Amino acid sequence: MLENKKIILGVCGGIAAYKAVELLRLLTKAGADVHVIMTRAAQEFLTPLTFQTLSSNPVHTDLFNLIAEREIGHISLADMADLFIIAPATANIIGKIAAGIADDMLTTTVMATKAPVLIAPAMNVNMFTNPIYQENESKLQRMGYLFEAPVSGSLACGWEGQGKLAAPEAIFEGAIAALTKKDLTGRTILITAGPTREEIDPVRFISNHSSGKMGYALARAAHLRGARVLLISGPTALAKPDGVRVIKVASALEMQHEVMTRVTECDVVIKAAAVADYRPVERKNTKIKKNDESVTMELVKNPDILADLGKMIQRPFLVGFAAETDALLENALKKLDAKNLDMLVANDVSQADAGFNVDNNRALLLFRDGSSCECDLMSKDQLAGTILDQVVARLEQG
Ligand code: PMT
Repeated sequence: MLENKKIILGVCGGIAAYKAVELLRLLTKAGADVHVIMTRAAQEFLTPLTFQTLSSNPVHTDLFNLIAEREIGHISLADMADLFIIAPATANIIGKIAAGIADDMLTTTVMATKAPVLIAPAMNVNMFTNPIYQENESKLQRMGYLFEAPVSGSLACGWEGQGKLAAPEAIFEGAIAALTKKDLTGRTILITAGPTREEIDPVRFISNHSSGKMGYALARAAHLRGARVLLISGPTALAKPDGVRVIKVASALEMQHEVMTRVTECDVVIKAAAVADYRPVERKNTKIKKNDESVTMELVKNPDILADLGKMIQRPFLVGFAAETDALLENALKKLDAKNLDMLVANDVSQADAGFNVDNNRALLLFRDGSSCECDLMSKDQLAGTILDQVVARLEQG
């Protein structure tokens, strides 16, 4: 998502300046071309050489440096930026920007840019809660400046409270959000993810290898694009994606209940969960003893949640998945038709590098109108983006 994006990273003077190094590393690792501007105070904490080495670009420190200004001046920096990040941002720099003061390289460049500006403040808790600071921040927010709020904790100055620079990972996420087009704003999307567990007795269950990664990637991407996201998740080890409402379930029947209760509020349903097709007819209340050489268990079919959604008269845009080990196209087309779907994501789960419990996937996207689109091996985050591009295009067609 940040591949080839030009990002200006402004670093101010504060003990948290060292965290800007980690942020720079995350940005460059994601493929961004980062140009650093350091204030004079920032250079009291770190040297430009650190940022120059890690960004592979010259570091800008002086508005009146004749050579630097001739080669790539503050206006060129401001113009080239896809995104401007200031981290850490002091009360002083935020006050200056809010007051329209442009008296050094950083403030002049921010003033001249048309790119989105993401500010990550770091300061003493009393400075942070000072009404003057709060008014400056509110003013900038009203004008469209983005903020990554500082977190609470013990501060370098010895005080406890809010003022610690947000984690570099959180600022990195903020950068991705700032650069993501909000084409799902106003839409509610329900996504299912992970496996279901069908209990046999208090210690055993039937399940599958789904990790939830595909569904969680979709939830995260949909939230970044502005959707209200409900994620109905089977048991997984994954962290809750930011800004997403997660409803935890275990069995197919629980998933069915949660999906059916919420479907009427949704514009889109994407069923990436690997729902167990069968459950034991009877769940024993005590652990089954291993007295016999063999046991037979009777299973009963679970409701097909997606097929039931497809039967609704007024239904949301429906995206199903098909996990196949053979005859991918043939089986997927049958599911698209039998479950009355708008779109189906067919993946071959017999391959080790894609499908269940890995970070990548490859898929064939099939649509109700007979069109299709092949997605080669890519990260689940990328595939989630491609799936949502298709959903958005079709929602726009009406
Ligand atoms: O979770 P990961 O480790 O990231 O792996 C991702 C994945 C392989 C699980 C995912 O990409 C995927 O393929 N999910 C669907 C798995 C599946 O159950 O496929 P299916 O062909 O059995 O079911 C077809 C569709 O019907 C699916 O959308 C499924 O959610 C839905 N279904 C199935 C059975 C059932 N009782 N109710 C359903 O709603």
